[in-house]
Amino acid sequence: MGPPVESWFLSRFLSMCTTCCTKGRFSLPLSPLALTLHGIDKRFRSTSSMSSYTELARERSKTVTSFYNQSAIDASAEKPSVRLTPATMLYAGKSPDGQHILISARYLHKELPVRIAHRIKGFRSLPFIIGCNPTILQVVSSPTPLQDFSITDQETEAHYSKLVKQLLDDHKDVVTMLAEGFRECRKHIMDETLVRNFLDTTLTSRLGIRMLATHHIALHEDNPDFVGIICRRLSPKKIIEKWVDFARRLCEHQYGNSPRVRINGHVAARFPFIPLPLDYILPELLKNAMRATMESHLDTPYNVPDVVVTIANNDTDFVIRISDRGGGIPHSILDQVMDYHFSTAEQSAQDPRMSNLFNNITNSGPQSGPMHGFGFGLPTSRAYAEYLGGSLAIQSMQGIGTDVYLRLRHIDGKGESFRV
Ligand SMILES: Nc1ncnc2c1ncn2[C@@H]1O[C@H](COP(=O)(O)OP(=O)(O)O)[C@@H](O)[C@H]1O
Ligand SMILES: [Mg+2]
Repeated sequence: MGPPVESWFLSRFLSMCTTCCTKGRFSLPLSPLALTLHGIDKRFRSTSSMSSYTELARERSKTVTSFYNQSAIDASAEKPSVRLTPATMLYAGKSPDGQHILISARYLHKELPVRIAHRIKGFRSLPFIIGCNPTILQVVSSPTPLQDFSITDQETEAHYSKLVKQLLDDHKDVVTMLAEGFRECRKHIMDETLVRNFLDTTLTSRLGIRMLATHHIALHEDNPDFVGIICRRLSPKKIIEKWVDFARRLCEHQYGNSPRVRINGHVAARFPFIPLPLDYILPELLKNAMRATMESHLDTPYNVPDVVVTIANNDTDFVIRISDRGGGIPHSILDQVMDYHFSTAEQSAQDPRMSNLFNNITNSGPQSGPMHGFGFGLPTSRAYAEYLGGSLAIQSMQGIGTDVYLRLRHIDGKGESFRV
């Protein structure tokens, strides 16, 4: 006989509550979650007697207490994070003896725990029902101890960098996991703004953490065009082309053909910028434009209109406009397309002309990812653009097509820059 439902919730909840903060320091982020899930649940299943329940309850009560008494995390969460301007990162300079790498490592070593503590606080304040979700639990469960030593020389720095790399790798699928986890439990949440605010903050602060961590790792590399993650002379055209190739391959795999993409405007522009956020936003916008084009021309898939990308560069910012002739976004859903989890993927699958094609979504290779379906492309892109001091705006010409404007501030421009 299985455990009663409340006990199952309790066990889930307590599993979630156990954290790695045991001796006034913490590993990163909530390391024993997965272990606890395993341990308690396994014992739970194999126990049925009253005394074991009591024992278990006592153990859990201890765990709850420790969850709410994580002084190290609480203390770190109280500290403000120190956000850098990309210009500071760019002009911090390179010293031949590698001092700049030590300085960067010490900054990260101080800063990461503060930012992660803020995130843990965010997860802690989520409604119980979300915390019960196994996928969400997984998000906060990979152990990476980053706090246990001080960085004194090249050797400790090398060790630290290895851990940071591991951290980046362990958490690379977090966006997909959050998308899946919230999809499962958001039907229980009445307050939509809660989900939106949590996801906006979590995803953008994750972007910030990843930018800082990747920057530190990249400082070790010797590429004259780059200082860490900052490209000294980024060509918007080149990076657009890279993601056009990617999106076209996905599109061909899914629909048997893909629209051509013409790039015009300031095609020769080059300026310092961080490619990393563009590497997320551009493929999402291009996939959307290509999907709309293909799905509005299902009867003539080998004769589809081009997608046109226009680059506009000026002293303050630069704009990338992606125009498609995919029929536009209907009035009835225009207000929803920026909502997390809003997607018309399922409707598309209902179209008999799509049924053969739709199977491909789940069959796409692991590197390629799906063409659409999570409903995260637009909201995440907008959150990233705003985090970078820019914006993402949509103009739908219903019946014709859609223009999406991605506007981003220069990191060395006239206006004030964003902070990472
Ligand atoms: N260029 C576009 N043309 C028409 N509809 C679009 C376009 N871009 C986005 N949409 C609509 O907005 C929805 C949400 O987009 P997105 O957030 O990228 O999620 P997904 O692509 O996973 O559905 C899409 O399902 C689609 O209905
Ligand atoms: Mg999309």
